[in-house]
Amino acid sequence: MSYLIVACSLNPESRSLVLARQAEEALRSAGATVNFINLKTTPLPLCDGDSVYARPEVQSVAKQIQKAEGILLSVPIYNYDVNAATKNLVELTGKAWEDKVVGFLCAAGGQGSYMSVMSLANSLMLDFRCLIIPRFVYFTGEAFEEGKVTDQKVEGRVSELAKELHHICTALNKKP
Ligand SMILES: Cc1cc2nc3c(=O)[nH]c(=O)nc-3n(C[C@H](O)[C@H](O)[C@H](O)COP(=O)(O)O)c2cc1C
Repeated sequence: MSYLIVACSLNPESRSLVLARQAEEALRSAGATVNFINLKTTPLPLCDGDSVYARPEVQSVAKQIQKAEGILLSVPIYNYDVNAATKNLVELTGKAWEDKVVGFLCAAGGQGSYMSVMSLANSLMLDFRCLIIPRFVYFTGEAFEEGKVTDQKVEGRVSELAKELHHICTALNKKP
């Protein structure tokens, strides 16, 4: 099985990047092949709905999405939504998302934004028939200290999501 994790924060001290790395470790230790994209170190242009689709970095990311059997998006919550860089990624890569199994890991400032990924999740479901894993990893700043996880619950939740992704993708792969 081959998975893709996209760390979507552009913040150099990103907490969602820490979650993404934990998910990578969980999937790799289950024997999966994992491709990792960090949008901070793989900058993408803003989507203009036109010439930008031909840019090599956009095509490379689209190909990696298209090749993956399942995708984990590790996102920062901004203004009760995913950050603009995440939405921009989906705008740039559109059809590459078709029929993907997608899970979310979220870093937020407060508990009140828990449902913030739903707008993007709906768009992925309705536009591209993605299967969204109904188990979001969601942690606030209290779970971290100096770039490291301090909350014991993080590892368990991340590994449950990784297991669920692997389980669903394996089951779908076996379909006649
Ligand atoms: C522009 C901006 C908007 C934000 N909006 C929200 C919000 O609506 N809800 C929330 O819980 N946290 C919000 N936050 C806090 C971030 O979600 C939090 O800092 C999180 O750690 C960001 O993820 P990152 O560390 O991976 O970049 C906001 C932060 C910024 C910079």
